[in-house]
Amino acid sequence: MKRMAIFISGRGSNMENIVRQVKRGKIRAEAGLVFSDKPGAPGLKKAKAFGVETAGLERSAFESKELFEKAILEILKSRRIDFIVLAGYMKIVGPVLIRAYPGKILNIHPALLPSFKGAHAIRDAFDYGSRVTGVTVHFVDEQVDHGPIILQEAVTIGLRDRLPAVEKKIHAAEYRLYPRAIELLVSGKLKIKGRKVLIRS
Ligand code: GAR
Repeated sequence: MKRMAIFISGRGSNMENIVRQVKRGKIRAEAGLVFSDKPGAPGLKKAKAFGVETAGLERSAFESKELFEKAILEILKSRRIDFIVLAGYMKIVGPVLIRAYPGKILNIHPALLPSFKGAHAIRDAFDYGSRVTGVTVHFVDEQVDHGPIILQEAVTIGLRDRLPAVEKKIHAAEYRLYPRAIELLVSGKLKIKGRKVLIRS
């Protein structure tokens, strides 16, 4: 079975959901590592409680992003990691990791890309007055929030919705979408063709 690393920066609710789906057999991969750039991230404790190995490294402990990512790469190699899923990982992934894992890094973004890129997408869509936003799972490439899209799900913003209600709907959509996308990847059904992702049936 392929071994997955899940990268987080914060609470790790997507990570938790992914690990649960692994345990239920809905994602046919092993949760080999949860990595965080914030060694105090609450999600790391949760991962340990699930019995998943964890590692944390701070960017500020390294002279450059390149050295930081080389150190991450060593950890990934030592745990025999085959692919990476970013789940609320708030660092931009650089060429060292992207070139080591070509077509093997997924990200979840809480908006319908290419709209509302960046770190505050739910709030940005809400403040903009959008009536429809959503969730995107995509391959990571060298541009931020840009790689080929695997799955998207729309989420409506009701006229009476406040921000917390929208956040709740977005997270519910994330918990449905990410495990499906990961399972498509591990079952070898995804093929990248230019900007597009083809899904074999
Ligand atoms: C998720 O909503 C994820 O889509 C978002 O961070 C949240 C992490 O929550 N990611 C981004 O905004 C990336 N640009 P979690 O730690 O509870 O899974």
